[in-house]
Amino acid sequence: MSLDVHDIAGAPVVIGAGIAGLMTALFLAPEPVVLVCNTPLGTGACSELAQGGLAASLGEDDDPGFHLCDTLAAGDGLCDEATVRRVVRAAPEAVKTLERFGVAFDRYPDGALRLGLEAAHSQRRIVHAAGDATGRELVRALIAAVRRTASITILENMEARRLIVDDGSIIAVVAAGRARAIALPTRRAVLASGGMGGLFCDTTNPPGSCGHGLALAAWAGAEFADLEFVQFHPTALDGPCRPMPLVSEAVRGEGAVLIDERGQRFLAETPGGELASRDVVARAVWHQLAVGRRVFLDARQCLGPRFDKRFPRIAELCRGAGIDPATDPIPVRPAAHYHMGGIAVDAAGRSSVDGLWACGEVACTGLHGANRLASNSLTEAAVTASWVAESVAGASHTRRRRKCSTLVPPRPDASGIRPVVSAALGIIRDGETMREAVATLLPIATHNSAGSGPALVSLMIAIAALRREESRGAHCRSDFPGRDADARTSRLTRHSAMQAAAALSCRAPIGST
Ligand code: SIN
Repeated sequence: MSLDVHDIAGAPVVIGAGIAGLMTALFLAPEPVVLVCNTPLGTGACSELAQGGLAASLGEDDDPGFHLCDTLAAGDGLCDEATVRRVVRAAPEAVKTLERFGVAFDRYPDGALRLGLEAAHSQRRIVHAAGDATGRELVRALIAAVRRTASITILENMEARRLIVDDGSIIAVVAAGRARAIALPTRRAVLASGGMGGLFCDTTNPPGSCGHGLALAAWAGAEFADLEFVQFHPTALDGPCRPMPLVSEAVRGEGAVLIDERGQRFLAETPGGELASRDVVARAVWHQLAVGRRVFLDARQCLGPRFDKRFPRIAELCRGAGIDPATDPIPVRPAAHYHMGGIAVDAAGRSSVDGLWACGEVACTGLHGANRLASNSLTEAAVTASWVAESVAGASHTRRRRKCSTLVPPRPDASGIRPVVSAALGIIRDGETMREAVATLLPIATHNSAGSGPALVSLMIAIAALRREESRGAHCRSDFPGRDADARTSRLTRHSAMQAAAALSCRAPIGST
């Protein structure tokens, strides 16, 4: 089915209603904009699950220069320094902007912002809201602001299923809901559709976060960067719940320690201990689990009865699993959490496809490199949304009169490929398992089925991971445990680039041993 929507024709279309999408739409006001959200607004986005907050150098002893150094160190040689510099400088102002949009950040009785500490930050610089419900508060305030903004047309329960490209430029977005499908003619589309953790069995992401925006961009011919870098959060609550509830790094920031079932602290000798960078801690937890131990986060000493007040949401999640964090160690395991790679974008968020921008987790700006510093993602979304909006507003969008009739692809479903992705692209990877995954994913990716988008995204990640024959940041290969010295210095080999066509034409993949 196909239908042209004339009354909003030509307006930019923002796909996704997490922090990045909501803020892009707000920054575009008063220009009319269409906001497409595949669930009711306020549900289904990763942003609302965020416990950690926004990293910004707001402390008295802090400085954007320190934030820059911490981000570069975590990124393990792959950050784009110019991007990091711009983002960390803009971060304090982004916090103020969010307050203007109605977000209430946590403050001390004297009015000063309460700044938390998370892994690999040299300073307390994380602003939170409602203790550990930062994402929920941000989304609440931004949705209220969006609903007050008459120039934003909200299409809820509508999923973008295809970007129509003509002569290398975006000309429409096809979106489908339960009862109808529509083609939105536009020359400006912004993907703000979040990440791909839902491609893994163990993830903190909602099930809808299965890389759909990456698939849309891939079919449109966009270029990608650093797809192999997937971040695993070390401390998701170990249990049957999916998405797995997070036990925020801020709990370790308050002094909680990781122990095995014998009560032994296995990170005591590691530089940084429990607050070493996330990849280091996730691998340490994984190694314990791999030798058959159980892992717990122990906050009994550092927080004890204060846990509920400081982390009310986590306390509630623990209690739902029969655990009292004041008196019980919390069982944890790593879970897919964040994608550092994504659609390659320039400083204004423009992709390689004319008329397509990307913002938030789906984009690769170069801020995170090989490993994201905790709480830099909400900061990135808030900061870059304004750059994207400015670029979209200034772009030429003369309409082409063209009927956009198209078949609507099926609703994406990642359930069939999760076991393959989890086995091949997890915390420790090896060439043989990844080559097998490529062989399994390739035929699924080339069929027009519900699994083809998730399979295409997974295929591209697997190929990027196969090509990176080294271990760096979150990408760890048992068959290439060391660093590739060239990758540090050579601009050409530092960042991995990819297009769907290259992935789909890959028959005998990459460096068979
Ligand atoms: C956390 O609260 O541990 C997660 C924060 C983040 O992913 O940045």
